[in-house]
Amino acid sequence: MNLRLLIGMGIGVAVGLLFSAAGWTQSPEQDEVRAQQERQVTQPGNNAPVWRDVQSGEPNYTSIQGRETDVLIQPPARFLGQEVKVTAGEAWRQFRNGPVTFYGGGLIVLIALAIFGFYLWKGPVKVHERPTGRLIPRFSRFEQAVHWSTAISFCLLGLSGLVMLFGKNLLLPVIGYTLFAWLTLIAKNLHNFIAPLFIVSVLAMIAVFIRDNFPRLYDLQWFARAWAVMARSEHVPSGRFNAGEKGWFWFAVVGLSIVVAWSGLVLLFPNFDQTRAVMQDAWVVHATAALVYIAISLGHIYLGTIGLEGAYGAMRTGYVDEAWAKEHHEYWYKEFKSRKTAAPRSALPAGEKS
Ligand code: HEM
Repeated sequence: MNLRLLIGMGIGVAVGLLFSAAGWTQSPEQDEVRAQQERQVTQPGNNAPVWRDVQSGEPNYTSIQGRETDVLIQPPARFLGQEVKVTAGEAWRQFRNGPVTFYGGGLIVLIALAIFGFYLWKGPVKVHERPTGRLIPRFSRFEQAVHWSTAISFCLLGLSGLVMLFGKNLLLPVIGYTLFAWLTLIAKNLHNFIAPLFIVSVLAMIAVFIRDNFPRLYDLQWFARAWAVMARSEHVPSGRFNAGEKGWFWFAVVGLSIVVAWSGLVLLFPNFDQTRAVMQDAWVVHATAALVYIAISLGHIYLGTIGLEGAYGAMRTGYVDEAWAKEHHEYWYKEFKSRKTAAPRSALPAGEKS
């Protein structure tokens, strides 16, 4: 064997050893890739290690840069302050489809049944005196417009929200996939676009009606006699709005509106660098407040329509009969009388003289 051949063989062995040493010290990622390739041969379709990796929450490479864009699935972590074993997204999903749907839906059904039962039992709140035929202005055109745009946008938001939340359980089995897909798509877009109208309307509502909703000492008397007013049509004097209406104004129109609007905006605009965890918490706050809002709005809607004689006409036409004003809002009526004489019937637009 000549010397050249010997040197050549020596280099070849050295290079071979180097390569095999490199192979020996493969990175764990390369090991995993090879193991997965081998697994695909013996167990085709078994991607468990890949998903284990995804669910670990370790950041990976992504070409889209942004908050959490490099983490595909949130790791098991804390949800609503509790340690959870499943991923945080799954914990949120279970909470949404479990307690929120069950108790929220239950609350709405219970309140609706209670109101219906009360109506059958006691009937509407009546005005004792006969109508005088003399009408006095109660709501201006602007106040009416603000009220109806709030009311209509609220109903659209409520209905579309309920379709999104309960539709899969209640509507899908009845109307089928195609119709349900269209309905939820419309509901989702309606919810997104009506929300700003609702926010503007509520702000106007607060500005317009706040003056007459400040609590007064005589409101305590109304609260104490609330059952008698509702069940026996008892006459308890109040200002332009009674204590029940003031409670609705402060707790729902102001309080709950702020909560649903704020949490809703966090969900509507995910581009302000908020994390998924923040959005999950915002969803819980939003849906809970919205369901409570819907449940108690049934009481307001009931009293504004069939539950209290003459209330709907007041908001529809802007005028009320003097007998009605005296019976339900005596202090406001007296104040009005001391300022002005009654508005003539002819002041009403045609077709609104009922
Ligand atoms: C005030 C402005 C509001 C904004 C910006 C807003 C926005 C949103 C957004 C972005 C969602 C998430 C929908 C999704 O999962 O894709 C949502 C859900 C929901 N909203 Fe609103 N919303 C508002 C007001 C309301 C009101 C007033 C109600 C009830 C009367 C309501 C009831 C609901 C309900 C029940 C859900 C849960 C739907 C679900 O996740 O299945 N929202 N809202």
